[in-house]
Amino acid sequence: MHTSLAKELGLEFPVFAFTHCRDVAAAVSKAGGLGVLGVAGHSRKNLETELDWIEKEIGDKPYGVDLLLPSKFAGSDRGGFSGEEMDARIPAGHRDFVDRLLAEHDVPPLPADANVASEISVGYEQQRDLIEQLFEHRISLIASALGPPPPWMIEQGRAHGVKVAALAGTVEHARRHVEAGVDIVVAQGYEAGGHTGTISTLVLVPEVVDAVAPVPVLAAGGIGNGRQLTAALALGAQGIWCGSVWLTAEEAETHPVVKEKFLRAGSGDTVRSRSLTGKPARQLRSAWTDAWDDPGSPEPLPMPLQPRLVREAQARIQRTAHNHAGAAQLANYFVGQIVGSLDHVKSVRTVMEEFATEYADTMERLDAIAAGEDD
Ligand SMILES: Cc1cc2nc3c(=O)[nH]c(=O)nc-3n(C[C@H](O)[C@H](O)[C@H](O)COP(=O)(O)O)c2cc1C
Repeated sequence: MHTSLAKELGLEFPVFAFTHCRDVAAAVSKAGGLGVLGVAGHSRKNLETELDWIEKEIGDKPYGVDLLLPSKFAGSDRGGFSGEEMDARIPAGHRDFVDRLLAEHDVPPLPADANVASEISVGYEQQRDLIEQLFEHRISLIASALGPPPPWMIEQGRAHGVKVAALAGTVEHARRHVEAGVDIVVAQGYEAGGHTGTISTLVLVPEVVDAVAPVPVLAAGGIGNGRQLTAALALGAQGIWCGSVWLTAEEAETHPVVKEKFLRAGSGDTVRSRSLTGKPARQLRSAWTDAWDDPGSPEPLPMPLQPRLVREAQARIQRTAHNHAGAAQLANYFVGQIVGSLDHVKSVRTVMEEFATEYADTMERLDAIAAGEDD
């Protein structure tokens, strides 16, 4: 599995792991892949602690970071809205709907001292300080989701010797990213967890590989085992970029109720829904997504108004899902169709070893097919 990109980054395996959990990121880097910490939703102070911790944990192994840089969002024409401006744009009917949904499920209110997850920042300029802070760390890769990175981010990447990547759900996105100057395109198909488009990985990856050559492409979406990894390399990718497969790992901080739901879920139990972030994101189907999908319910608001609307409700659900049946019914999280194959809790190291052994077995089988000895 010695792709040129893996060699350049000093990886044993071309496995790139997107995660919001520092333990998973560190474990992947230690096992020979590249852990990529999603910084969206981390407070700046907390982030400093997380990155310092990862660096101490992994020694001289490489790691990366990822952030949301959407090109389109409510208020993008003026660089974003203030908190007050956002509040003024959230209709009372939407607030009533969320209150009613939680009341119908008997979800207790938050205690006065409860922490609510920090808000997602969106605009380029709103995140400039944060991005500059990221470049002060020993990162090997920085990735941009939902839009191309701004020119100053590309310049800083060059100056610091950090690879800049961007996620693409269509060939057009991929071309735009390459025009912006990215070093790596992550072609992410419909089956992926989180924000996703409508084109499947099997169709998208070779299209993007052909469109952006010689820029290296990573395949994302629906990859959770060594056969899928081998298929991704066969499609022309230089490696894989996975998110869902880590959510049921021993090291993952996934909410225990949601982890249990993931372990039981089938590959048909996810939906693309705008109900958490305002943009279509694949997640586990639950009473929460069903309620928003009901034809009588309000349409989710655009990003970043929807996350602001549901932030407190989500904190209430997560805080009480372990001992309130209604909150447990509503609880969900981003996950891709590969959730159907996540049946056991395993360590990150085991997942990495299984990728490697199944890759070797698959290559052996393909060699046997090529030699006419596949009996
Ligand atoms: C829980 C979760 C959160 C995600 N959040 C982000 C994010 O903040 N930024 C990003 O670039 N991708 C995000 N993604 C998408 C991943 O980077 C990756 O492309 C995707 O998980 C690949 O498909 P898979 O889920 O089938 O492995 C997220 C995915 C999951 C499962």
